[in-house]
This record gives sequence, C-alpha cells and structure tokens, in this order.
Amino acid sequence: MARTLVISNRKGGSGKSSTSVNVAAELAAQGQRVLLIDLDTQGHCAVGLGIKPARDAATVHGFLAGRSSLRQALVESAWPGLHLIPADPLFEHGGVGESESKLRDALAAEGLLADYDTIVLDTPPSLDGLLLNALCAADRVLVPFVPHYLSGEGVRQLARILFKVASRGLNDRIRVLGFLPIMIDLRIGQHREVNASLSHQFGAARLLPGIRTDIKVAEAFAVGKPVREHAPNSRAAADYAAAVKSLETLWV
Ligand SMILES: Nc1ncnc2c1ncn2[C@@H]1O[C@H](COP(=O)(O)OP(=O)(O)OP(=O)(O)O)[C@@H](O)[C@H]1O
Ligand SMILES: [Mg+2]
Repeated sequence: MARTLVISNRKGGSGKSSTSVNVAAELAAQGQRVLLIDLDTQGHCAVGLGIKPARDAATVHGFLAGRSSLRQALVESAWPGLHLIPADPLFEHGGVGESESKLRDALAAEGLLADYDTIVLDTPPSLDGLLLNALCAADRVLVPFVPHYLSGEGVRQLARILFKVASRGLNDRIRVLGFLPIMIDLRIGQHREVNASLSHQFGAARLLPGIRTDIKVAEAFAVGKPVREHAPNSRAAADYAAAVKSLETLWV
C-alpha cells in the first residue's frame, strides 16, 4: 500500500515543486512505483517532467470538480515507474467543493494506493480546499523552506494547519516528516540561525540535510527533466539523493 508524502509550505517560492519533482524522480530511480499529483494550478510538475497536457486533458482539479475520475487523469512520464496526475491551470480556486477527504477517498477507492509505493503531492501555498485535500490524504508532510527571516512564519502557519487537521479528526495519521532547507549555505549566519531555530522547535532529527543553491535545479525544470537526469554530477542531484536517503530513515 502506497505511502503518501505531501510537500507543503504556506510560503510561495520555497522549493515545493522542485522538491516534489526531484524527490519523486529519485524514488522512481530506486525502483519504486511513484505517483506525483500536482495540486497547484500553476502546473509546475508537468513542466518539470517535460509533460504538456492537452487543453482538455483530465486533471486532479477536474477530478475534484467532479468532471472525471482520478485514474482518468494519469499520465506516464519519460522515466520508468514515475507517473503524474497533472494540474489544471485554468481551474478557479474555490471550485473544489466542500469535501476535504475527496482525494483521499478516491486514492483508495480507485485502487491507486495499491498500484504505487509512494504518492507525492505538490501543493499550492494558499490555504483552501486544495491544501486541505492534500493534508487529509497525507501520511507524512515534508516542508521545504528557504532559510531567510520570513521562512519561520510560513512554517508556523503550516504547523497550525496540521494541528487543526489532526485535532478536527480529519486525519490522525498525519506527521511532519521533516524540514528541508532549500538554497542552503551554512557559511551564511542567517541560514545557520534559521536552521537552529527549527531544530530547537521541532527537534534536530527533523532537519534534513539541505539542497544547496544550484542553477541546475532551474535549468533542469526549464528543459523538463529531473535534475538527476539533466545534470547527474551536479550538487543538486547529490543533495536530492542524500535528502531522499534521510527521508527514508525518518519515515518509520
Ligand atoms: N536548490 C536550488 N538552487 C537554485 N534555485 C532553486 C533551487 N531550488 C529551487 N530553486 C528555484 O527557486 C524558485 C522557486 O522554486 P519552486 O518553484 O520549486 O518553489 P515553490 O515553493 O514550488 O513555488 P510556488 O509557491 O510558486 O509553487 C524556482 O525558480 C526554482 O528554480
Ligand atoms: Mg510550486
């Protein structure tokens, strides 16, 4: 039965989509069957995997709006074992309906939990039915963050939402897997301070080794490939491989 990993941070531009694509690709390269679901209407996961959904293609947003099943929206990527359910860039936020458990229920009912080893969900920074559907389906949440002085607030906001999801009985399995520093440079005092503050708040074990700044991450996205395929010898490819290793040890 698939494990479900939600990549989330309330702050925009914190490396959610880069992390979703590259973690999913790393897991697939290790032989796992991986399903990436893009809940952010910006549609970046399809871009990062070089997939161009047709204008009328089924999407996760179309599914949430009742227009198709989830399975109808499945597309294969160029990499073995890595599939995508893309986003609908034309979807209006707010059109999700009332149900926060619709995605979770369909993953089980349509047999997708049985077909995959890991399901990775990329999320929008906004707090709405899309994020709540992701969090309801989550076993674990991975929080990428850019270590500057505003990042603590995004993390705290997310922590409050996770608490709400758990305390309202929407999902009692949900746990924070860890925090992943993005564009980290430990020579910078502010980066060390933000890391120390998160370690203090959530425990040092929850802080993953970060992803260093590497133009190859942006470049790989632009050419529609995971960074391990575009630049296998890059810093970012090594860092994402190490991050996935520690993610596996934290997932108990
Ligand atoms: N390690 C890295 N080195 C250099 N640039 C990076 C790195 N990680 C991410 N970026 C760049 O930072 C920007 C934001 O990353 P990304 O799109 O993954 O964030 P996001 O949280 O998904 O954003 P949004 O909230 O808009 O969905 C992108 O331009 C991306 O290419
Ligand atoms: Mg994104």
